[in-house]
Amino acid sequence: MIWRIPLADIDLGDEEILAVTEVLKSKWLSMGSQTQAFEEAYAQRLRVKHALAVTNGTAALHMACVAAGLKAGDEAILPALTFVATANAIRYTGATPVFADITSGNDLNISPDSIESKITGKTRAILVVHYGGYPCDMPRIMEIAQKHHLVVIEDAAHAVTSELEGRYMGTWGEIGCFSFFSNKNLTTGEGGMVTTNDDDLAKKLRLIRSHGMTSLSWDRYKGHAFSYDVVDLGYNYRMDEIRSAIGLVQLKKLDRNNAIRRQLSGFYWEMLEELVPQIGLPFKNHPGISAAHLMPVLLPEGTDREIFMEQMKENGIQTSIHYPPIHKFTAFNKDGSQAPANIPLTESIALREVTLPLFAGLSNEDVQYICETIQKILL
Ligand SMILES: Cc1ncc(COP(=O)(O)O)c(C=O)c1O
Repeated sequence: MIWRIPLADIDLGDEEILAVTEVLKSKWLSMGSQTQAFEEAYAQRLRVKHALAVTNGTAALHMACVAAGLKAGDEAILPALTFVATANAIRYTGATPVFADITSGNDLNISPDSIESKITGKTRAILVVHYGGYPCDMPRIMEIAQKHHLVVIEDAAHAVTSELEGRYMGTWGEIGCFSFFSNKNLTTGEGGMVTTNDDDLAKKLRLIRSHGMTSLSWDRYKGHAFSYDVVDLGYNYRMDEIRSAIGLVQLKKLDRNNAIRRQLSGFYWEMLEELVPQIGLPFKNHPGISAAHLMPVLLPEGTDREIFMEQMKENGIQTSIHYPPIHKFTAFNKDGSQAPANIPLTESIALREVTLPLFAGLSNEDVQYICETIQKILL
């Protein structure tokens, strides 16, 4: 299928090709100078003490859950309106994901009130997701977490350089997790980053990333160590030099591209409000600054979403759904023993959500064509 307008596109060019070529010429392919430079630049950009490059966003979330001490018998609260990785990361540790509702049709992020209502004696952590790059209500969520002694892990996969009250998303909670998957604002193909301001957590995360080993091949090559001990159970979630080199270039492009994404989102809201006032526009006037990763809209109640998406396709426009709610997936209630999630807002709003194309290479003319097509379809 050749789309007239795809859902997403990435900004990759000669600079990335040159950076990758230089790595290949260097013959050092994993966890070396490029990864170190990427981590340092990332930490500096987000004003966070530690940034650890990892193999993907799911690994980042898994490491965060392990470092937070999640284990069988524990519960962790999260939204159901997210990618399944957020919940899987909890399940990898043996802990149980407990789903909280979204805030409203305007704010698809996890509701602080719903979080509070889901806390039990077994709750150990809250995993928030900044949907589409739009900040969760972190001041309230941190207050709830402190009151109940819970760890906060931020899934900031959509939210690189999103900010609230002058602080970047992924640096509010104890640990922030980022994804550099191929459709993300900053991409390395596969890749991710874990951030924290806590020295002890950073130490733990470093061990978890590489088999619990006290030194890496890079350290030994640099002459800093001859051998190593294995002091805990860890994984191989290391980043390679090729992707770190791409990440360094992508980081330089991020501010410009995110600004374009925000401008395009604003233009969408303006056009849709004028042409299709019956459509819902989540996150319009949302607090903070968004990385504008997604452009979600809510179809009017009673619209057949599949037919709508089919008609968009006939006009060459790719759309998507973010997300089928996780608690409805077969794997999350295989034996039917799971108690009902009781998240009515998520269930009703999720059925109406459609994601429109959004990427830095999109033009205002494209947005106008998309909005006029929606107007025709919903007439
Ligand atoms: C909200 C969210 N969390 C986690 C992930 C997992 O990241 P990755 O694909 O890099 O493992 C993704 C995306 O892909 C995501 O969108």
